[in-house]
Amino acid sequence: MINLSSIDISKKNLVIRVDMNVPIRDGNVQDSTRIRSCIPTIEYALTNNARILLISHLGRPTEEKFEEKFSLKPVADYLSKIINKPCKLIGHLESEEIFDGKTDIQLLENIRFFKGEKENCQDLGKKLAGLGDIYVFDAFGTAHREQASTHSAIKSATKACAGLLLERETEFLSKALNNYDHPYIAVIGGAKISTKLELIKHINSVADQIIVGGGIANTFLKASGLKIGKSLVEDSMLDIAKDLLVQGKIVLPNVIITSKTFEGEGIRETSVKDVKDDEMILDLHLSDEILTSLNQAKTILWNGPMGVFENKLFSKGTKDLSIAIANSSAFSIAGGGETLSAINKYIKSDDVSYCSTGGGAFLEFMEGKNLSSIDVLNSKEIGS
Ligand code: 3PG
Repeated sequence: MINLSSIDISKKNLVIRVDMNVPIRDGNVQDSTRIRSCIPTIEYALTNNARILLISHLGRPTEEKFEEKFSLKPVADYLSKIINKPCKLIGHLESEEIFDGKTDIQLLENIRFFKGEKENCQDLGKKLAGLGDIYVFDAFGTAHREQASTHSAIKSATKACAGLLLERETEFLSKALNNYDHPYIAVIGGAKISTKLELIKHINSVADQIIVGGGIANTFLKASGLKIGKSLVEDSMLDIAKDLLVQGKIVLPNVIITSKTFEGEGIRETSVKDVKDDEMILDLHLSDEILTSLNQAKTILWNGPMGVFENKLFSKGTKDLSIAIANSSAFSIAGGGETLSAINKYIKSDDVSYCSTGGGAFLEFMEGKNLSSIDVLNSKEIGS
């Protein structure tokens, strides 16, 4: 993969595809992690006298239909503040303001408003790449999407390279994928096995233990013959869960937190063998065995919360897990929106060896799949 540092970018116009798909409420950025993760590439480019046009998507708007809630205006404003420079929002591709020299940094309006983005239109990709001298791909979070601003633009760019975030993501995640030390403990939580099945299957072939939590644990508990009351479960996944249990790496909770409602009616801590018909499992207790495994691990992969941690009543499992990972000396990798918000809530991102900015891209990378934008970037040659 060609890196930004191997190219002369002085006085060049860089079109940089970033992933600034961040939560926005009432016109304000709610979580700036993804915007901040783009700063090293932006600063590197500005320090090396390049001009920048950023491209990002935000949410999933309908093409050719402008809706204010999907506008990148709050992102441009936020970026201006943190880099202490004006960041001009550009409304359309024919704008004469693009690289007009009046601002060093510009941001194109949400690329998903433009016709052809979703279906990976080659003409749109070519147009985007043609706006500047070099196409820099730094949107790890979108690297699994084959779209015009990812796949087609890289493909048709005269010069394309990876940004600093993409470099860092692939370096750290590759270590957890290919170059890990044992004991390797994976912790997989969240609502549904179906969305993480490929990850669980792949990790099952490399990790020593897979600690499960959240709705995923419920499905495994039911598959092991236990009663789970009204808990969230995926019955269609029970046979697969049984097969995985037989392979012996899945670690189930012994003690859980149940309640009759999400508001905590009748909340109690109990054995997994004692869930009543009118109860839901909403959190878990990390056993001493699990805490010891995490403490002795050399590699830890974490994706997904252990319970409904947004509610303090059901946050103990996720909080204790965050602290155990922070205290462990293992090489640790975390990814996924909920996982990162738990990390920001209970520990610091620096307490984990690497926090990925990817959601779906993180899962696919850790499943061992090739991400199409990285593939096409890998096929580019220097100077071409
Ligand atoms: C993400 O949030 O995972 C990325 O920005 C990709 O967004 P998408 O799932 O809407 O393509």
